[in-house]
Amino acid sequence: YNVVFVTAEAAPYSKTGGLGDVCGSLPIVLASRGHRVMVVSPRYLNGSTADKNFAGAVDAGSCIKVHCFGGVQDVAFFHEYREGVDWVFVDHPAYHRPGNPYGDIYGAFGDNQFRFTLLCHAACEAPLVLPLGGFTYGEKCLFLVNDWHAGLVPVLLAAKYRPYGVYKDARSILVIHNLAHQSVINSEASKPGKSGEMVHLVTESLGVEPAATYKNLGLPSEWYGALGWVFPTWARTHALDTGEAVNILKGAVVTADRILTVSQGYSWEITTVEGGYGLQELLSSRKSVLNGITNGIDDVDWDPSSDRHIAVHYSAEDLSGKVQCKIALQKELGLSARPDCPLIGFVGRLDYQKGIDLIQQAIPEILQDDVQFLKSSSMFQVMLGSGDPQYEDWMRATESAYKEKFRGWVGFNVPISHRITAGCDILLMPSRFEPCGLNQLYAMRYGTVPVVHGTGGLRDTVENFNPYAREGHGEGTGWTFSPLSKDVMLSALRVAIRTFREHKSSWKGLIKRGMQKDFTWETAAIQYEQVFEWAFVDPPYVS
Ligand code: ADP
Ligand code: GLC
Repeated sequence: YNVVFVTAEAAPYSKTGGLGDVCGSLPIVLASRGHRVMVVSPRYLNGSTADKNFAGAVDAGSCIKVHCFGGVQDVAFFHEYREGVDWVFVDHPAYHRPGNPYGDIYGAFGDNQFRFTLLCHAACEAPLVLPLGGFTYGEKCLFLVNDWHAGLVPVLLAAKYRPYGVYKDARSILVIHNLAHQSVINSEASKPGKSGEMVHLVTESLGVEPAATYKNLGLPSEWYGALGWVFPTWARTHALDTGEAVNILKGAVVTADRILTVSQGYSWEITTVEGGYGLQELLSSRKSVLNGITNGIDDVDWDPSSDRHIAVHYSAEDLSGKVQCKIALQKELGLSARPDCPLIGFVGRLDYQKGIDLIQQAIPEILQDDVQFLKSSSMFQVMLGSGDPQYEDWMRATESAYKEKFRGWVGFNVPISHRITAGCDILLMPSRFEPCGLNQLYAMRYGTVPVVHGTGGLRDTVENFNPYAREGHGEGTGWTFSPLSKDVMLSALRVAIRTFREHKSSWKGLIKRGMQKDFTWETAAIQYEQVFEWAFVDPPYVS
């Protein structure tokens, strides 16, 4: 197939989370399996050293004019052919500014709707206009539309191209990595109220904007219904309380030929009130074309037997290097080198989604010497993350309060994330919801035992430890706890720590089974190919 990924992030060019990882690795694997693959993403230049990520991409020589937001925008393309994939970067001044792909220290950019509208228009033109390797991709493409940022693509195919006979043979697959990102009902700003009910605070634009902005998108007026969205009553708070909005992801849900999520569990969760962010009924109505495929991991970047970021290499056959990595990490962090003490790690965005508040509540109990379970010796916790300033401050404060036992590394740092993954014994992920989650997969590959909330992709990928199975050898790769509460999390953690301390052979079994699990992209790519095939069985969903 001629596959065109449209995405706001693609590692190593740009990444704030798992979306970047997926769109940086899956294209390469698909290309190695014989498909022609293009990835279309913005050319972000923020004036930092990260700009060098784009240094290999050269001006592709084709410019287009995009009619949107009441004007005409000149858009250029940059191109790099690497590892069998055409990496295409959409160039426009709106992508050149300090910050990450979505915002800066002051919050989300106010013109994200404009920035991602440009991306979608450009992505629809790229296969038609760019001669890459001497040939254009042409009209028979399969667009992989990732999250709301790319959501206008299937709408444009239906509304702007097919009426003129273009892209009749193209298909689109919407890949939902995180439904919460679609919403002005920002998960980071949604907190339990005094009596426990959820209070959703409407913050900045994340793909949902006032209805009046529809005219900016470059779509015919009769297509308003595809994007028009009446806010569920619980979402009607401050900024957008008219009840009418345009929701770009909704447009993609109603026009894409198929829909995928990044785990099977999540594909069910988004059809429920709790996980659907107002789109559950629409998503349920498309159940017959909705599937989940669990993400893979980049097994070259994330391989403990060759990882350039870690102190000593190791493998499932020879685990001796793992304890060396732990000692090296403890030294690097200025903790005393104590291989016998359980070291618990966390890596991730400091976001309400990730359940940071539960860790916050549990820290005193985790770090205190708990005579019941933890005997007398101490334990350590290290957290790496960035995001919500309130959690960043808390991490700093906790580090000063527990100098001997806690380290909080505020920032985004890939080498440290590898060293934490290798050096810890346990990785804690109390995510409220987790469409897939990559850190638990990295952890298992590195012999670090995950303790996770049983939700979405975490439940699908971490097999709960059962010490009694198979005549005493046990089975499972970690702990999945449920329901989500501080106490339930703590009791799972205590069982994990007791197993680490007192049942060495069970612990070794957990480590080995995790390391031997197959989380390669090859497996996921075969499932993607099946869905590609299904996409072409029927005519376009909206023709
Ligand atoms: P999400 O996409 O929701 O953030 P995932 O678990 O799918 O969650 O992916 C997160 C990715 O981002 C992983 O590759 C993780 O290692 C990386 N990551 C998150 N926070 C940091 C950080 N502070 N420093 C380095 N890498 C990070
Ligand atoms: C999202 C999800 C995460 C998933 C990632 C990659 O950001 O929050 O669970 O692993 O996308 O698909």
